[in-house]
Amino acid sequence: MRTVSVQLGNRSYAIKIAPGLIDQLGRECARLKLGARCAIITDTNVGRRFAKAAFNSLATTGFSPSLIVVPAGETAKSLKTVQTCYDLLAAHRLERKSFIVALGGGVVGDLAGFVAATYLRGIAFVQVPTTLLAQVDSSVGGKVGVNLKAGKNLVGAFYQPRLVLCDLDTMRTLPEREFRAGFAEVIKYGIIYDARLFAQLERDLPKLLRREPQTLAAVVARCCEIKSDVVGQDETENGLRAILNFGHTIGHAIENISGYGKFLHGEAISIGQVATAKLSSGLMGLSGDDAGRIRDLFKRAGLPTQIKLKPAQRQKLFAAMRLDKKVSGGEIKFVLAKRIGRVVWGQRVAGELIGSVLDEIGNRKS
Ligand code: NAD
Ligand code: GLY
Repeated sequence: MRTVSVQLGNRSYAIKIAPGLIDQLGRECARLKLGARCAIITDTNVGRRFAKAAFNSLATTGFSPSLIVVPAGETAKSLKTVQTCYDLLAAHRLERKSFIVALGGGVVGDLAGFVAATYLRGIAFVQVPTTLLAQVDSSVGGKVGVNLKAGKNLVGAFYQPRLVLCDLDTMRTLPEREFRAGFAEVIKYGIIYDARLFAQLERDLPKLLRREPQTLAAVVARCCEIKSDVVGQDETENGLRAILNFGHTIGHAIENISGYGKFLHGEAISIGQVATAKLSSGLMGLSGDDAGRIRDLFKRAGLPTQIKLKPAQRQKLFAAMRLDKKVSGGEIKFVLAKRIGRVVWGQRVAGELIGSVLDEIGNRKS
């Protein structure tokens, strides 16, 4: 088993990475000295596959679990589902010492984490991420929340889990498209922080796409180390943590104008990162060689690297970028790359330049 620790004083916690961890859930929770009552929050797809094992593991180690199953998909990240969860927690009489297990992808993690942050003014929660994206990104760092009609993640909190269990066996059942989308965040860590990881991904991509457990375990652990390092220095995103948003300003806007669901998050930020690499070449001196390696790696991972926009869509894209949470004083700030492994944040970029880069990559053949 690989263990990464997130250092946040008395809110520090471990991320454990290994196969078979759902069967160890009860034993791992017992170590945290939590109350007996708990609730597993999961979705229909994940629940069907893994809820029984999680439930049995908790029950046989002396806990009294209840199961809350929400619909699969982004629409479950809503205040309506939060209300349903509160009602079920109250019906099961969860107390201050009780805890929640978030069993699922980023949707369940963000939702269940927000419920935990707010029910009885905060009860403990444990993340059991079951998508690649959730294992390397959303389950770590304490950003929890739900969507409003006005936009994604507009209601939320910073609320850290007590433990993260990345069970690598859950990768086996993850649909191919979801698995590949998770790679957009994996590649991001190489670009923003670790040139050696980037080179390792270039080398080991075929093994990773085959989901070879040892290679995957090492990469998941390295991504978690990087995220922990960043979050440990800047938990509430006053500076450094912004680097985790590389490619996300354009990516979120693409998700928004295409209607959530057309592009998976990872697919949209793949295009966003390729476009941001191109911007970085013009503004930060990122070499053509590095920009090409970035584009090639996303392509090899089976992710989209370009989008063709009609004039009306382009206008919508700019409007969506201006609504991004990262806009400050009306200015869109970008994370730009100097070279693979080194980025700078808080960079102003002129709108016309973003437009011409999107046109340029959109018109590229292949
Ligand atoms: P998701 O949670 O919707 O999961 C994707 C799909 O895969 C769902 O249909 C789910 O039911 C299914 N699934 C999950 N695990 C499975 C498994 N092991 N086998 C079979 N099917 C499985 O999507 P996601 O990509 O994991 O997360 C996206 C969400 O994460 C978005 O809401 C995004 O905003 C959020 N996010 C949060 C953070 C953060 O820091 N909190 C970071 C990145 C993304
Ligand atoms: N996924 C971005 C962050 O956690 O800050």
